[in-house]
Amino acid sequence: MFDSVGIDGYNSFMTKRFGVSIPDELLAKLDKLAKKKGYSNRSEVLRDLVRDRFVEEEWATPAGEVVGTVTLVYNHHAHDLSDKLADLQHSHFQNIISTTHIHLDPHNCLEVLVVRGKSQKVKEIADRLIATKGVKHGKLVMTSTGKELV
Ligand code: NI
Repeated sequence: MFDSVGIDGYNSFMTKRFGVSIPDELLAKLDKLAKKKGYSNRSEVLRDLVRDRFVEEEWATPAGEVVGTVTLVYNHHAHDLSDKLADLQHSHFQNIISTTHIHLDPHNCLEVLVVRGKSQKVKEIADRLIATKGVKHGKLVMTSTGKELV
């Protein structure tokens, strides 16, 4: 157990060691996963798994304050699609805090939107964007404001 206090005070944390009973097979799978993903040790992979579960909880709370990214791939020649997507984004300008547009080729566009707000609202916006007719692929990556994570 040790204390670590960062210069800015944000990295203040304590670390505890504890024993965990876990079936051999599950531990072997965990070690395999850690190796595959490039973790340097079991503790780090476990911490990340726990944090990931807490991020899931943040998103499961409809009023939870969350951050995410919406990735969209679409053909900008598709009828009215660019206008529809722009209209949707303007309707939710408070929640869409950044947009990056990349012209992938003469036809296809990639957009990455940074979205923030109550989880329920952010999910609704993402669903509507992704479900817009003509969007070839869309994905919401749900992450965290970091405030509730250590
Ligand atoms: Ni484009």
